[in-house]
Formats: sequence, structure tokens, C-alpha cells
Amino acid sequence: MAFAFDISSLRARAEAAISIARQVGQEAAVFRAEALPEMLGIENKGPQDFVTIADRRAELAIRSTLLEEFPHDSFMGEEGGGQDGAGAGDGGTWVVDPIDGTTNFIRGFRHWGVSIAFVAGDRILIGVIYDAAQDRVFHAIRGQGAFKEGKPIAAAKTSDPSHAIAILGHSRRTDFEDYLAVSRKLYERGIDYRRMGAAAIGLVRVAEGISDLYYERHLSAWDMLAGMIIAAEAGAAVSMPPLEKLLRHGGPVMASSPGLADEFAFLLEIEDFSAAAS
Ligand code: IPD
Ligand code: CA
Ligand code: CA
Repeated sequence: MAFAFDISSLRARAEAAISIARQVGQEAAVFRAEALPEMLGIENKGPQDFVTIADRRAELAIRSTLLEEFPHDSFMGEEGGGQDGAGAGDGGTWVVDPIDGTTNFIRGFRHWGVSIAFVAGDRILIGVIYDAAQDRVFHAIRGQGAFKEGKPIAAAKTSDPSHAIAILGHSRRTDFEDYLAVSRKLYERGIDYRRMGAAAIGLVRVAEGISDLYYERHLSAWDMLAGMIIAAEAGAAVSMPPLEKLLRHGGPVMASSPGLADEFAFLLEIEDFSAAAS
């Protein structure tokens, strides 16, 4: 599908997203460092699924900043920013996870971030991720490459599985036995693996060549759209369901170093990436 956004309007949107991602991410980090546990306003959304006052504040700030500057855009956010019409029509939609890795944020692990994607039609056009551990912003605009603080990044050139590192994600939305089976297959191929608890950050680790794989059986659109375009623009091999399906139901996600695509092909057999988006 053709889309109505030229490069200058995409650059303007990317700059706005970079600036607000950095701002809310740094504010959340300061708040977390200074707040007493009872000030975090932790609410339980389900088993091992939390939200804090910082998530809600960050989403409101991102939403009001982006819609003020681009009033005709739509907005979909994890914490209730409204998803009606996302991906529909000719307009564009911001898809936002105000804090990805909320459990890490609450407990004091370093791996969390702010994830902002802009989509139109069946395409992801922009991805922006603030990485709290490094205090750095990653971004990509479709067809323009991937960047960390404005400097180009590239997926790893790893080709030997016995040198490869994978990051896996898992939530209680999917079967634990399936997760164990994938861990075992990676182990049998000589690949080492980690689990960090923040999908957006796992995907930028593939984009910057630190990890050779990010795979998770089910993610929501806000967890992964920004990370997937950043990884793809950095030269990673990426697979996910079509955007329309992802916006409605989420789905499986995989990004890998291009030289290891054959090693990870077994994941393509497990998951239904038919008519996969890019
Ligand atoms: C979660 C994290 C986690 C992943 C889950 C996500 P949240 O997002 O990305 O790493 O395994 O599937 O739901 O709740 O921290 O925004
Ligand atoms: Ca998330
Ligand atoms: Ca979140």
C-alpha cells in the first residue's frame, strides 16, 4: 500500500519521537532512583504483569506531545491510549510502550526502555527506543538505516553458532514447555542464550550486533514494532506476522544476525510467519 508520508514528514516525526522518548525515559529513571517503593503506585494487571505511575505518566506525556505536533495522527498505547482504527485508512498511527520491561524497572534491573513506533498502511515507518541501561536512543526510518545517537549501527556478522548469543523472551501468555524446547534446541546447536525481560531492548541488542537473536512466541505490537524496524534497518533478518494481525492480536517475533538465518530456520517452522510483514 502507498503511504502519504514523504521523507521530511517522517524525519520530523522521528525527531519528535527521539526527543520525547529521551525525555520521558530520563524522567522515569530519575523518578525510579529517588522514589520510595510505595511511591511507584504499582498495580497488578495479571500474573507477573505490572504497571506503575511512571508507565502511565510516560504514556500521557508521549501521547500529548506527539498528537499536539501531529494532530491528524492516531495513537495506540499499552496503558489505554486507544487502539481503535490503528493501522486503518491512509493516516498514520503511533504505537507506544511507555516502559518496556516494567518488572525490571520496578525491581531495579537495568534492562528497560521506552518504545515508540509509527505505522501506516501495512508498514512500520519509524522506530525509536530509549535504552535506559545505556542512556542512549536508537532510531530507524524505513529505508534510511538504523542509528544509535545518530551513528549507524549494524547487526553482527556472526556465522559460527558456537560463537552465537541469543536473547529469548517469555511471558505467561504462552506455553512454558515450548519455551524450554526452544532453549534446548539452541543449546544443542551450541548457541548460548539469555533472558533479559524487555523485548524492545532485546531487539536493539540484535540491531547493534551484541546479540545474534531475539525470539519471543507472543508479543504485543507496542512491545516490538519499533525494535523490529530498527533491527531490520540494521541488516538483521526479521520475521513477524502481518502488521494488521499484530496490531489486533500480537504474535511471534524473531530478529537475527543474517549469517545465522539457517541456524534459526527451525523457529520459522514452529511459528506461523506466513505472509510475514517486513
Ligand atoms: C513485557 C516485556 C517482556 C516480554 C513480555 C512483555 P512489559 O513487556 O517486554 O520482556 O517477555 O512479553 O509483555 O509488560 O514490561 O511492557
Ligand atoms: Ca512491553
Ligand atoms: Ca509496558
